[in-house]
Amino acid sequence: MRSFIAIELPNQIKSVLARMRGDIPGARWVPAEQIHLTLAFLGEVEEPVMELLMDKLVCVRLPGFELVFSGPGCFPNRHRPRVLWIGVQPQLGLNALAAAVHDVVLACGIPQEQRPFSPHITLARLKLPAASRGTDAFLDQRQKEKLPCLSVGEFTLFQSRLTPQGAQHIPLKVFPLASDPVNILC
Ligand code: 2AM
Repeated sequence: MRSFIAIELPNQIKSVLARMRGDIPGARWVPAEQIHLTLAFLGEVEEPVMELLMDKLVCVRLPGFELVFSGPGCFPNRHRPRVLWIGVQPQLGLNALAAAVHDVVLACGIPQEQRPFSPHITLARLKLPAASRGTDAFLDQRQKEKLPCLSVGEFTLFQSRLTPQGAQHIPLKVFPLASDPVNILC
């Protein structure tokens, strides 16, 4: 099963983010209901490994935290924009969660990228070279926009089902974070 682990966003934030769309030729905007913050992309995972993964993720009981959005940006850079995103401010709680999830995923034998965690919320995937000019305008205009903070109290394991109409994201299991500041280990 093709899957990933992410922080699901409330509908109100998804709508605000979806309204930030700009006029960029060839941009494939993420459907509002699918906007999320990826913690780990898993790719294809066999059923027994999925069960082990769920058992281990239940034990990640780190404290919840506040997510503060920052400005827009793109990967890999402004000259060759391929992914357009909204960033989040560095947050120890978020980094600790991403690191714990990363360790669990590796412990299940699922390979992970070596790149450091760079938290972002993808809004669009772009095709070059048409995207460059629209992207500059988008980045400049959206710089000033203020987004509300978000209290994160859980993370979600999703299936990503590929269909001719695009990927469908199906939540498989939600994992609550601890509401008190003490880590609960199991
Ligand atoms: P991103 O958009 O936050 O970069 C679900 O497919 C999510 O997994 C995507 O939103 C994407 O996160 C992330 N992802 C990372 N590597 C991927 C890959 N090779 N194929 C598809 N998704 C990937």
